[in-house]
Amino acid sequence: MPQSPTKPFSDVLSGERQAIPPVWMMRQAGRYLPEYREVRAKAGGFLDLCFNPELAAEVTLQPIRRFGFDAAIIFSDILVIPYALGRSVRFEVGEGPRLEPLDDPAKVGTLATQADFGKLAPVFEALSIVRGALGAEIALIGFCGAPWTVATYMVAGHGTPDQARARMMAYRHPEAFAKIIDVLVDNSIEYLLAQLAAGADVLQIFDTWAGVLPPAEFARWSVEPTRRIIEGVRAKVPDAKIIGFPRGAGAQLPSYVEATGVNAVSIDWTAEPAFIRERVQSRVAVQGTLDPLVLITGGTALDRAVDNVMATFAQGRFIFNLGHGIQPETPIAHVEQMLRRVRG
Ligand code: CP3
Repeated sequence: MPQSPTKPFSDVLSGERQAIPPVWMMRQAGRYLPEYREVRAKAGGFLDLCFNPELAAEVTLQPIRRFGFDAAIIFSDILVIPYALGRSVRFEVGEGPRLEPLDDPAKVGTLATQADFGKLAPVFEALSIVRGALGAEIALIGFCGAPWTVATYMVAGHGTPDQARARMMAYRHPEAFAKIIDVLVDNSIEYLLAQLAAGADVLQIFDTWAGVLPPAEFARWSVEPTRRIIEGVRAKVPDAKIIGFPRGAGAQLPSYVEATGVNAVSIDWTAEPAFIRERVQSRVAVQGTLDPLVLITGGTALDRAVDNVMATFAQGRFIFNLGHGIQPETPIAHVEQMLRRVRG
């Protein structure tokens, strides 16, 4: 019998603590890497890079080659779902995403219910190229945005500091807003299943803007749609491993974990460490929680911060990561310093 490959990352998600925690970084393929900037420059636009299977696979693999992370995350974006739903989605240099706003019930009436997944075929192809190129011990992460976070961009048409337009729409026109959420739930299930079929080992659901919602709205617009996505994925793939990232959920993390059925939860740097250890890590694996700004800082501040994270979480099921994405100005030497500190 062939030995089953050791995958420290997947083992943590199955409930087995690793003596040295697996490590990766949110946004690990990106502008802080000169080799990424080089490929990005020759790809043209950001979406052109996402939809070029060879180049998307290449930038996915770059941080693995350079740092030997335990997981690769496919290079794509959460806004490819609105794109596949036929919405106009553009990324302007220095400005972030631009979509056609979906900010009243009449416009929601025109929203397609079924995405054209043919438009996302290059993402699936990139996943299979990456899976073929990775060692068996390295996990490949597929992902989508949580419906609430994707809806904040669809409603406003761009990023907003407080997600006010989506929050207002959810209060004023709950039925129209629920339709957007329902369309995103159904299509995210299909999208995640297709990523598993193409070679993803693990899935992550990014709910970057979960933290702006009052508790009742958090339960309705963040937790419940995420729960339905996970239920839908597991109806077809019962043992699918899924990480949730309800950024800023704080005191509501235990109820998020309980209700959604995630295998792990990714946690930002503001959550109270002892609370997370006792109320969250006791139930599922924890991922995080280093502040990306201390990674820019480096030096003894970085060493101390890494030691704190390890002292708090490394006795349990833990994946070392940042509390949010790495910033473009982060020195590569600081990433190397962080890895030496974590791995000893
Ligand atoms: O983590 C990875 O390395 C995989 C790729 C990935 C990207 N976006 C590439 C990207 C992932 C997982 C995402 C998720 C994503 N996209 C989220 C959720 C996670 C988070 O960081 O909060 C959100 C909210 C988006 C939407 C989005 N995409 C915004 C707001 C922006 C502009 C801001 C920015 O960081 O530039 C993007 C663009 C984007 N997505 C870039 C990358 C590498 C930068 C584009 C470029 O290279 O010019």
